[in-house]
Amino acid sequence: MTSATLEYKYPVDPSVAWGRGVDEVQRALQLSLTRLLELNQLDIEIPVRETISPEELSEGLNLMIPDQPQELSDIIDHLEQIMVKTPTTSSRRFFNQLFSGRDPAGLAGDLFAAFGNQSIYTYKVAAPIVLIEEILIQKMGALAGFSNDGGRCGGIFTPGGSLSNLAAMLCARDQLNPKWRDQGSLRGRIYTSAESHYSVKKGAGIIGLGRDHVVSVPVNERGQLDPEALQAYIERDLAEGHQPMMVIATAGTTVRGTFDPFVEIADVCERYTLWFHIDGAFGGTALLSPVLADNMRGCERSDSLTWDAHKAMGVPLTCSVLLTKDAKACERSLSESASYLFQADSDLLNPGTRSLQCGRRNDALKLWGAWQFHGDQGWSRRLERQRNLALALAEEVNLRSRFKLCEPPPYLNVCFEVLAEEGQNLIDHEELCYQLQLSQEALVGYASFSGAQTKNETVIRAAVINPECTLEDIKRLLDSIEKLAAQV
Ligand SMILES: Cc1ncc(COP(=O)(O)O)c(C=O)c1O
Repeated sequence: MTSATLEYKYPVDPSVAWGRGVDEVQRALQLSLTRLLELNQLDIEIPVRETISPEELSEGLNLMIPDQPQELSDIIDHLEQIMVKTPTTSSRRFFNQLFSGRDPAGLAGDLFAAFGNQSIYTYKVAAPIVLIEEILIQKMGALAGFSNDGGRCGGIFTPGGSLSNLAAMLCARDQLNPKWRDQGSLRGRIYTSAESHYSVKKGAGIIGLGRDHVVSVPVNERGQLDPEALQAYIERDLAEGHQPMMVIATAGTTVRGTFDPFVEIADVCERYTLWFHIDGAFGGTALLSPVLADNMRGCERSDSLTWDAHKAMGVPLTCSVLLTKDAKACERSLSESASYLFQADSDLLNPGTRSLQCGRRNDALKLWGAWQFHGDQGWSRRLERQRNLALALAEEVNLRSRFKLCEPPPYLNVCFEVLAEEGQNLIDHEELCYQLQLSQEALVGYASFSGAQTKNETVIRAAVINPECTLEDIKRLLDSIEKLAAQV
């Protein structure tokens, strides 16, 4: 077919703005960078965004999908306007979640990852990123004590701690009964503390075990899973014909930041040959600091560890790793053959053979970038600074009569109660947090935990994650809460 006949059969109208590719990419990068610099400055100047109703937002931002193509610079203006109205999680006054701040090299790594847009399933399309993932997995696995004999551990980057926990459940299920992957029919039991993350129950539902088969083990007054109660529940379940499958302990519980007693739990798991998983989505990072690593004692005896770099390490979301002591564990539970995809190289170089997803974001590059920036030494200094800030907040809470500290903070979360003054009703923490948000002073959340010795049902939970935070920010947070407490 000549090009004339091709043109006749498939007319291409040169006036149609279709070839918007290459030059526009250049422009998109230039324009975006300028706007991102402005937004970064805005986070410093206005650390808490204005609270706006969904109706006002839809009206003010014009979020409808257009019929006609839009001009790139207008789109980038529009994106900036949207980000201006989007809550910032990177400022020094964001205490609301277990992530906060903006890591420079992590951010750069993520920008490069978005630009590269590789899918990390085969060496063919990801080459050095596969090696980077493997280097990080071995580095983190060594910290977890999973390769003390010099061997290789296993692991995979996932889209978050919830999915890392889910993959660990699959590994545990298939250890208990390798036929279950194909044939289904689970009678297993998962044991976890009453204060573990909700992803445990959710995962149990997803893997076909059933949410009701998650046994909630009581905790002591510090919020730690009670190993004796654990053993008693296992004995009870065995007597009733259930099949204990795994224990999921937590390093850094979501509300209190508590670390379970891993050594004692490992003893129980060994006694009954149970898979031992640690959900260290938040607290796994303690492995990076000689001062805090003692909290992780016994971790080297676990079978798998969830570790989110997007929480306490400040790497941009999402960046979570599931580490397994047995290098083949994920592959056993997750590999599928796909001749159109896995065409070259060994399985070792094709992480798609051990991941939950098919297409998978390049989350490793930003962690690799951040690790270059901080180094092992820098990570430990960074974490110890976060820890000292949390201790300083707790001390400041103790000094003020308006507050009652729930407990010395085990990690980076500080839980406290705002007390009512003489003649005042109990302080409504929910309302207080909302008023704080409206005042644009800070974002902080409220939560509850069992056995709290508090007058209110909830407590304020301030997660001190952003290492840029200062003592002044901490005092200002408490000043603002005190001021509002007099009004609510
Ligand atoms: C202890 C713990 N595990 C798991 C998760 C879930 O992590 P992700 O949000 O990355 O799915 C959280 C989230 O806060 C958590 O605190």
